[in-house]
Amino acid sequence: MEGRQEDVVILAIETSCDETAAAVVRNGREVLSNIISSQIALHTLYGGVVPELASRKHIEKINQVIERALAEAQMALEDMDAIAVTYGPGLVGALLVGVAEAKAVAYAAKKPLIGVHHIEGHINANYIENKELEPPFLCLVVSGGHTHLVKVAGYGSYEILGCTRDDAAGEAFDKVARAIGLGYPGGPKVEEAARAGNPDAILFPRAKVAGNPYDFSFSGVKSAVLNYINGCRMKGIPIVEADIAASFQKAVTDVLVEHAMAAAEECGIGKMAIAGGVAANKALCSGMQEACRQKGIAFYSPSPIFCTDNAAMIGTAAYYEYLAGKRDGWDLNAVPNLRLGG
Ligand code: KG4
Ligand code: ZN
Repeated sequence: MEGRQEDVVILAIETSCDETAAAVVRNGREVLSNIISSQIALHTLYGGVVPELASRKHIEKINQVIERALAEAQMALEDMDAIAVTYGPGLVGALLVGVAEAKAVAYAAKKPLIGVHHIEGHINANYIENKELEPPFLCLVVSGGHTHLVKVAGYGSYEILGCTRDDAAGEAFDKVARAIGLGYPGGPKVEEAARAGNPDAILFPRAKVAGNPYDFSFSGVKSAVLNYINGCRMKGIPIVEADIAASFQKAVTDVLVEHAMAAAEECGIGKMAIAGGVAANKALCSGMQEACRQKGIAFYSPSPIFCTDNAAMIGTAAYYEYLAGKRDGWDLNAVPNLRLGG
């Protein structure tokens, strides 16, 4: 009974892009439910996420998703210690649905409200299955909108070592998928196509960025793929999608692994994690794992379901914010370009 009284149970809501998600998380690392209503079928018709349609779908689904999250956790709103919600970064209309919903639920149930940074959620997803993982560690965050190399100095304490100067890694996957006719969602389709291809068939550029060795640039490799395809078409050379996908995937993962390892060496931190939708990519995951093994660095990664957008990761991040005393007011707003680390 005593132990139970100290439990902290959080209802978390995530609607920053194209997944309507709610989860119930106990004490940060125990996921009691993790409901995700995917909008893939809707956006596939348009070849990518249509922001206004995403918002409308969120508003249609959000109550059902929350109800299911509570039912699966076998809990009621009264059992919650706080309501957490992603308030940025993301699509503003999509974020607003989650933020307004969380405020309404928290107000009606008289519970504290905690706004969570989406990328902080992705990083914290590593705590769910790696119960022993504690800061400090490095984390390579690779999502549709972000590519960051982050030093997690403590719970809720982040130092950005490097980031992309142009396209995010996931964005490059999505654009290349479109160029080779694989469609949306790009990342998983490129990965699937790459399985049948030769990663050494075409040498795409591995961009180095002047100034900061941990910054990334993926627009060059994306353009190189487009130029390669146009060149093939002009010369009447057959386009082998699988080889393009495999060679592109290798070019991107090589750069990500190389920068992450360089940072680990310089910081002298023996723990490396990955996070975000692209972290679901097996080639990237095994490349990082092998590089870490060679250097004696412990490697952590979430299962694919916790890599792509979900609310459990928001509940985990919110738990540490909760312990630190963070509470948001009724004026919490969506911040589409919210920065990590203040
Ligand atoms: O983290 P996430 O679900 O949403 C954002 O916060 O952006 O990441 C979505 C991105 C998309 O660009 C998607 O194509 C990419 O992650 N992605 C993948 C894979 N699964 C999702 N990229 C490569 N391989 C995958 N298996
Ligand atoms: Zn995300």
